[in-house]
Amino acid sequence: MFRRLCRRGAVNVASPAFTDVKLTEAAVRRAGKQVQVKFSDGSEFLMHGLWLRDACRDAYFVSESAGERYLDKIVFKASGAHADGCVKETRVVDGSLEADWAWLEPYSGFAGVPAPDLRCKALFKNQGIPDQFQHREFESVMTSEEANLEMLQSLMKHGVIIMDNVTPAEDASVLLHFANQCLGGMQKDPARESPNWIIQKKESAKSVSYAQTVRLNNHTDQSVAAHGVPALLLVVNYVHGTGCNTLVDGYAVAEALRERDPAAFKLLSTYGNCQERDFIRSRVDSAQEGTQTMLITTKQPIIQTDPAGGIVRIQYNEVFRTPSTVPFEHFEEWYRAYTLFNEMIHGPEFEVQVPIGKGQMLILDNWRVLHGRAGGKSSHDRVIMGGTVVREAFHSRAIRLMGAQYPVSDYVDL
Ligand SMILES: [Fe+2]
Repeated sequence: MFRRLCRRGAVNVASPAFTDVKLTEAAVRRAGKQVQVKFSDGSEFLMHGLWLRDACRDAYFVSESAGERYLDKIVFKASGAHADGCVKETRVVDGSLEADWAWLEPYSGFAGVPAPDLRCKALFKNQGIPDQFQHREFESVMTSEEANLEMLQSLMKHGVIIMDNVTPAEDASVLLHFANQCLGGMQKDPARESPNWIIQKKESAKSVSYAQTVRLNNHTDQSVAAHGVPALLLVVNYVHGTGCNTLVDGYAVAEALRERDPAAFKLLSTYGNCQERDFIRSRVDSAQEGTQTMLITTKQPIIQTDPAGGIVRIQYNEVFRTPSTVPFEHFEEWYRAYTLFNEMIHGPEFEVQVPIGKGQMLILDNWRVLHGRAGGKSSHDRVIMGGTVVREAFHSRAIRLMGAQYPVSDYVDL
């Protein structure tokens, strides 16, 4: 496993992350097969010479302009040595590696990566106050990479960030610019020309999403759930008017369910919940033109866990639920669990109402936080535009802001 120390706190992307760390000692070990190095911050590494040669990223092996290895520099003949266990970390002084990267690790996409450690998350319930969420200044995040990184870290800790004093715009330009610059880029929808959606008042709307005066139940956005995995972030820009969103910490609900009714938790984290979304029909009230038909079906548990039982994500949207395929002998108990979960995410203990309006943007961790719309609280001129950001885009932006290569772990039990 490759490991390296990095500095705590925000890192300036423009400069390498380790410029203030000096090499203090280096020695050749095991008859030239290994190298031991020590650095001024106290870290110490043991590396295979073979690994050093293979990992070299200098101009001889890697094209700077293309960001690719030169294929004719690959050594195909086995040298008799093994490249596994390439670097052995012998000492980490203050454990700062884990501290700096722990927030990002669950979103690496690497096979077997554990669910988020909930000790890194500030789980929330309804505190009964007008606005219990974190706010950040739009201009600051747009103009400072340090503020951008801090916002992303806070988002993944708290689940929700509200951006204030967002630059006014009549179209989606500000939203898209922000998503592309600060979140990694908005997910492209194959059935629509523009990546963002627009929701505005429509009389006699058939889809509940567009019927702004009525309540929209709490859900996670499915968008195009590639391989059944929904996008990680949801961003919504209030272009006009005011509204009141409902927000629920799905991790807090799931953990409470695990504690209060373990059998219900087990059922909801075991059996798939069938959903189907017809992207043409569900947008019957949209002002945007569809470009093609698209029908996406998913069958994932509402509460998704890793093998150790840690909660990875909540995936739930009642409007798209289709007939259940839970086995006959378990259906009644599954349905009881599903009803209990539905009550919890709409009950006063967990559901939080937050007023939000023009000049603000709402950003959510869509794997964790369910969102909805309170009934009868939207102004008639409410216009919101939004979209989703997939895990890959978010992770790409985050590691760029961290200014270093991701320290890849092996999650396989050998
Ligand atoms: Fe939604």
